[in-house]
Amino acid sequence: MEKKLYILTGASRGLGFSIAKQLLSESIALICISRSSNDELAQAALDYNSVLEQWCCDLSESESVCLKLSEWIGVNGEHSFQSATLINNAGMMPRIVPLSKAEHHDLTKALRVSLEAPMLLCAAFLSATEGWHKPRKILNVSSGLGHRAMASQAGYCASKAGMDQFTRCLAIEESSKDNGARVCSLSPGIIDTDMQVQLRSASHADFPDHGYFVDHQQKGSLVSAKETAQKVLHFLSHRNFGDSPVADIRDV
Ligand SMILES: NC(=O)c1ccc[n+]([C@@H]2O[C@H](COP(=O)([O-])OP(=O)(O)OC[C@H]3O[C@@H](n4cnc5c(N)ncnc54)[C@H](OP(=O)(O)O)[C@@H]3O)[C@@H](O)[C@H]2O)c1
Repeated sequence: MEKKLYILTGASRGLGFSIAKQLLSESIALICISRSSNDELAQAALDYNSVLEQWCCDLSESESVCLKLSEWIGVNGEHSFQSATLINNAGMMPRIVPLSKAEHHDLTKALRVSLEAPMLLCAAFLSATEGWHKPRKILNVSSGLGHRAMASQAGYCASKAGMDQFTRCLAIEESSKDNGARVCSLSPGIIDTDMQVQLRSASHADFPDHGYFVDHQQKGSLVSAKETAQKVLHFLSHRNFGDSPVADIRDV
């Protein structure tokens, strides 16, 4: 029987791991892309008769993985799958310092992982599945910081604002096609992952909003990756997915 195909970045830990774990329980085909693989996902694939490939790649150099994805989709073809979905979840926050103190290499890498790679993967996915008659979706994992400006977060805010805006452009392009892809850039809320640890570990002197993130943890208002993944996947499977090209999980 044809399986649903998912391509998911950043599945080795955090939100991406919980999304992958939940998807695998539905007997799907999943390609995970991050620098490291995860044995628990490999076991879940066996347990639930899912097909899993874990591609270990650095998304700060995403051109080769885009080529690999195009070739993989070309070889496997539309007839193998019920639907195809790309989830751009991997993200990297550069060092939390004012831009005047940023290290160029770190900033470049973060922009490549969080903005360039998602855009190139969208291009590769859309091109490789163009003309398919099956449902196609793209979910880009954004952030509230795509709208809210914050000191010492220029690189991260810019990457998420860029992601929201290129998704709006994609939505216009795809809506004019027969069976165009449904696309959305989604803010997932504040999640209890390594990224929050990085925010709380930033220097008070460099990061005026440090207390905001510490408060969230102290008040117990961080949402678990598992609960967020459930909400994200519910949103992704809803018939209205893609009606709005930018959304926040807290409003849906
Ligand atoms: N946590 C939050 O509160 C929060 C809030 C709003 C938005 N978000 C967004 O939600 C998404 C997931 O965040 P998270 O909190 O789960 O982050 P996380 O725990 O830091 O996990 C990041 C994931 O991205 C992958 N990744 C990082 N750099 C990579 C690289 N160079 N190449 C390939 N993969 C890379 C990591 O895998 P490897 O290390 O194995 O490569 C990991 O799987 C991100 O887009 C983030 O911006 C998070």
